[in-house]
Amino acid sequence: MLVLGIESSCDETAAAVVRDGRELLSSEIFSQIDLHRPFGGVVPELASREHLARIGPIVDAALEQAAVDAHAVDAVAVTQGPGLIGSLMVGVSFAKAFAFGLGIPFIGVNHIEGHVYSVVFENPPIEFPALALIVSGGHTNIFHMPAEGLYKVVSRTRDDAAGEAFDKVAKMLGLGYPGGPAIERVARDGDPTAVKFTLPKISDGRPDFSFSGLKTAVVRYIKEHSIVPAENADEPSQEIRDLAASFQATVVRSLVGTMRKIAFESRPKTLIVAGGVACNLALRHAVETAAQELGVPVYFPSRHLSTDNAAMIAAAGYAHLKRGEASDLSMGGDITLRLQNIDRDEAGLAKGRVRYRL
Ligand code: KG4
Ligand code: ZN
Repeated sequence: MLVLGIESSCDETAAAVVRDGRELLSSEIFSQIDLHRPFGGVVPELASREHLARIGPIVDAALEQAAVDAHAVDAVAVTQGPGLIGSLMVGVSFAKAFAFGLGIPFIGVNHIEGHVYSVVFENPPIEFPALALIVSGGHTNIFHMPAEGLYKVVSRTRDDAAGEAFDKVAKMLGLGYPGGPAIERVARDGDPTAVKFTLPKISDGRPDFSFSGLKTAVVRYIKEHSIVPAENADEPSQEIRDLAASFQATVVRSLVGTMRKIAFESRPKTLIVAGGVACNLALRHAVETAAQELGVPVYFPSRHLSTDNAAMIAAAGYAHLKRGEASDLSMGGDITLRLQNIDRDEAGLAKGRVRYRL
């Protein structure tokens, strides 16, 4: 089965063709980073206009790259949410028109579920139960997956997402946008033990994350030590390198410490780490160490599939279509979409329309 995937939830316009949910025939991504860089973050209005201009050519390029004629496509999978509403609407409308024109099914996919499926291309099949850490610019969650397509949130962020914290701290240190890769780059020559940051304790005892306190601690440290932002993002001072390395180490300690603790309690058969922050090598190494201790494999997406892409959307869509689930043409983009348990009947089919929200 050939699935055309479409992703336009934030600042990447992407299309991909995937065969049988695992075989990547093409993955085209147009990143709008350069468009938004002067503003230090994504400008929603500009993003949706750019998606509109790019989506047609990107879908054509994905089909061409896969050497697939549009008429050979069996179904279309598109990101329904969460994301920026104007951006989502472009992908959803395009996908609907494409599917309607060809008379093929289309399915709305939760973007976060898409990130989970980004690991299927270059790893053995996922064994369940699995534990998935999804860390991106908008989300930081740990999901317990008892079986394919079932998700229970066991940990979430109470405030900022991990990627958002990377972006904000990088901005304060004059390291540019997007912040994650910039911090990782300068942290390589920094001392991660130079600044001792403490992790917050969540008062109700849940294994949740909180990164806004860490961000405030960085602000305080910058003021107290009169650190001036780097004038040249490629050549920051040693104290900025040390601060970046210490910040990164603290985020990694929080993410991996929590995942490790939950994994020792729930004993999953597979660990999954995905989302933009999963590009981070310090994070990867720390999770690999934890996985070895647990004696289970950990699956990451390749770097190309860690940040937003449409291949993961096609793969997640295929899993739904295989179970006979599809969306109808009244579906719109949904910025509040959550990934939670889906109500299923005994045969494993989602009851009623495909829904994710409780
Ligand atoms: O998954 P993604 O492309 O978009 C969202 O769905 O949010 O993730 C983007 C986020 C940004 O916050 C970016 O700074 C972060 O992922 N990121 C990284 C790295 N590469 C990207 N964070 C830490 N280290 C990296 N190497
Ligand atoms: Zn994402």
